[in-house]
Amino acid sequence: MGASATVTSLPCSMAIVVAFLLAAAATSFMAASAGPVPAIYVLGDSLADVGNNNYLLTFLKADFAHNGIDYPGGKATGRFSNGKNFPDFLAEKLGLATSPPYLGLSSSNAANYVNGVNFASGGAGVSNATNQNQCLSFDKQIDYLASVYASLVQSLGQQQAAAHLSKSLFAITIGSNDIIHYAKSMSSSTKRPSSPPTQQFVDALVQTLTGQLQRLYNLGARRLLFLGTGPVGCCPSLRELSAAKDCSAVANDASARFNAGAAKLLAGMAARSTDLRYAVFDSSAALFRYINNPAAYGFAEAKAACCGLGDMNAKIGCTPLSFYCANRTSHVFWDFYHPTETTARMLTDTAFDGSAPLIFPMNIRQLSAV
Ligand SMILES: *[C@@H]1O[C@H](CO)[C@@H](O)[C@H](O)[C@H]1NC(C)=O
Ligand SMILES: *[C@@H]1O[C@H](CO)[C@@H](O)[C@H](O)[C@H]1NC(C)=O
Repeated sequence: MGASATVTSLPCSMAIVVAFLLAAAATSFMAASAGPVPAIYVLGDSLADVGNNNYLLTFLKADFAHNGIDYPGGKATGRFSNGKNFPDFLAEKLGLATSPPYLGLSSSNAANYVNGVNFASGGAGVSNATNQNQCLSFDKQIDYLASVYASLVQSLGQQQAAAHLSKSLFAITIGSNDIIHYAKSMSSSTKRPSSPPTQQFVDALVQTLTGQLQRLYNLGARRLLFLGTGPVGCCPSLRELSAAKDCSAVANDASARFNAGAAKLLAGMAARSTDLRYAVFDSSAALFRYINNPAAYGFAEAKAACCGLGDMNAKIGCTPLSFYCANRTSHVFWDFYHPTETTARMLTDTAFDGSAPLIFPMNIRQLSAV
C-alpha cells in the first residue's frame, strides 16, 4: 500500500514540482528586468556630456572657466553648465554615482563598465553629418556601447550581462543639434535650396533614430528614457537670429514634431517588444513653462544667457573672457545653448516624479521600478 501509494503519488508530486519550477523560472525571468536600477548608461549631446569631449580634438569643449563655477570645487569638468547637469541629478535620484565619461575609462578594465558609462558628446546629433569630426556622433556612441557590451559578456557571461543591462537605465538626449543646424540653414539669407520642409526633415531624423534605438535594444537596453528636445528655438543663440529676439518658430516647430515622432517610434517598439519599458520626457513643454512664466518658477531671466558676450550674452559662448551673471539660480540659460544647473535640476525632478503629458507613459521613478 505504502509502496503503491508512493508510486501513484509520484506523478502528482512531480507535476507539482514541475509547476513550481516553471513558476520559479517565470518569476526569475520577470525579475531579470525588474528590481532596482544597478547602473545608468547615458548617450547623447552636450546636455548630457560629463567630459567625453575633453578627450577630443574639437572646438566643442567646456573644460574651462566659467563653466563649472558652481560645480563642487568650482571645477570645469567638461560639463556645458555652471554646475551639475542632467546625468548627475538622475544618478543622485537613483542613489548612484554619476556614470563616468567613456573616453576617460581604461578599456582594459571591463569592471569599469558595470557601474554605468556615459557616452554623450557635446555637438552630437542623430545625423552623422551634424558637427561631423567635432564630437562622438550618436552612431559612434552606439559603436562604443557595442564594445562595452562585448566586454560585459566576456567578464560576466552572456546571461548575467543581459540581466544586468536589462535592469539598467539607458538615458538618451539627442536631436537638438540637428534641429539647430536645420533652423540656422533655414534662416540664413543664403538658404540652401536643398533645405527640406520641416516635416520631411523630422521624418528623416526619426527614420535614422529608429535604427539607432533598435541597435540599443539589440545591445540589451530594456529600460529606455528618452529626453525629447527642448524648445531649442528659445535658446539665446537662436533668439539672436531675429531682430525682435523672438524664439525661432522653425526650431520650436521641428522640436515638437521630433518629440512626437520619437514618442510614436518608442510606442511602436514597445508594442513589438513587450520586454521594453520606456519613458519619454517632453522637454519642450516642460521648459516652455519656465520661459513663458519665469517668475512662477523662481526665475528672473529666461531670455538672456548668464555667461557669454554681446547682445543677451548670446553672440559668443562662455569662455574665461566672457561676462557671467552674479546670480545663476535666477537664469534659465547658462550660455547661448545650455540650461543652468538650476534648470537641469528642476527638469530632472519633473521627469522623475511628474506625470503626463510631460513624462509618459510613466515617469522615471516608475520606469525604475517596473
Ligand atoms: C554613421 O557613422 C557610423 C560609424 O560611426 C556608420 O556605421 C554609419 O553607417 C554612418 N551612417 C551614415 C548614414 O553615414
Ligand atoms: C537669485 O535669484 C533668485 C531667483 O530670482 C532669488 O530668489 C535669490 O534671492 C537671488 N539670490 C541673490 C543672492 O540675490
